Amino acid sequence: MKRVYLDHNATTPVRPEVAEAMRPFLGALFGNPNSIHGFGREARAAVEEARARAAALIGAAEPEEILFTSGGTESDNLALRGALAAAGGSGHILTSAVEHHAVLDTCKALESGKIRVTCLPPDKAGRVTAGAVAGALRPDTRLVSVMWGNNEVGTLQPVGEIAALCRERGVPFHTDAVQALGKVPMNVRELGVDFLSASAHKINGPKGAGFLYVRTGARLAPLLTGGGQERDLRSGTENVPGIVGLGEACRLAREEGPAQARALAALRERLESAVCERIPDVVVNGGAAERLPGTSNLSFIGAEGETLLIRLDLEGIAVSTGSACSAGSTEPSHVLVAMGLSLEALRGSLRFSLGWGSTEEDVGRVLDVLPEAVRRVRAMAPKPEARR
Ligand SMILES: Cc1ncc(COP(=O)(O)O)c(C=O)c1O
Repeated sequence: MKRVYLDHNATTPVRPEVAEAMRPFLGALFGNPNSIHGFGREARAAVEEARARAAALIGAAEPEEILFTSGGTESDNLALRGALAAAGGSGHILTSAVEHHAVLDTCKALESGKIRVTCLPPDKAGRVTAGAVAGALRPDTRLVSVMWGNNEVGTLQPVGEIAALCRERGVPFHTDAVQALGKVPMNVRELGVDFLSASAHKINGPKGAGFLYVRTGARLAPLLTGGGQERDLRSGTENVPGIVGLGEACRLAREEGPAQARALAALRERLESAVCERIPDVVVNGGAAERLPGTSNLSFIGAEGETLLIRLDLEGIAVSTGSACSAGSTEPSHVLVAMGLSLEALRGSLRFSLGWGSTEEDVGRVLDVLPEAVRRVRAMAPKPEARR
């Protein structure tokens, strides 16, 4: 049975070009980039090339504005904790209710007598407007953090408008761009973003590597202290193979991203229109908003999402419910709850996320299997009056 992977928002396969680029750094090129000798200089050159590639992908003014980290979670933590610490460790953080847990739980952990947090509710499509941000800013707001593209429904936020507003009010702006990187055009210099989080494993790079963009002049305190690497903002010997893989993934995303995004949007459109045509009572969550090109979050009313996921898995089709990053969680998705979905729509939601390597055949296979799977799972579900 040919397996079909439609869970690219959880993680993506490492592209062969990326693995190839990394390989020498797991062998002969093992030097520490902080060493002065030739082994060290080879590794340093590779790290700096990767930095330039990451900077080019997001339109950073200088490669030095890229700090390598262990991934999206660390980048979000560094941005939030580091910006608040640099601002004196007190004040207000403004964020949204649809952020990834790496932002939301960090805000929760920071919240205290000295730090207050506001989580803006989204509209029904998962959007947070610049007007809502403007209305919630306070004189003591030290950071605004609103994600670029949502991992569960794919909704794109108006980051350009929010960044402009923050700039006007003199408040630093962070965006978690882990899902949007490589899928939508990005120019942090033009937008005036202060901090941007990214992760290699969502763009066909390796796990455990990412970066935080820090605009020159933006104030940030380190979380990790030690050897003073990454401009003293992220100590620790660099993960050279991971960084090289991230750099190659960024290069590929810059070259191929726009064409890939168009192809994914067309595939997603085909999937959604055929599903809605062939299966009754389907809701496209976030369908009214502009979305990441490969993300489709569908609610099959009257079906249990988890059961449907298992049925599809038995057929070799991998999809997800909620966020794979909240390991083992059976709680309803906080994103869908914040969007105000009905209980039935919450229960019956499934995320299909397409990416590099997704094909027409993959979508065709889903369309072959899904209608019958939904019919069976709906037949198994207790009738609404039996549920208390
Ligand atoms: C929007 C978003 N932010 C942050 C993360 C965490 O990234 P990482 O897995 O690299 O720590 C994820 C992972 O799913 C994500 O989707």
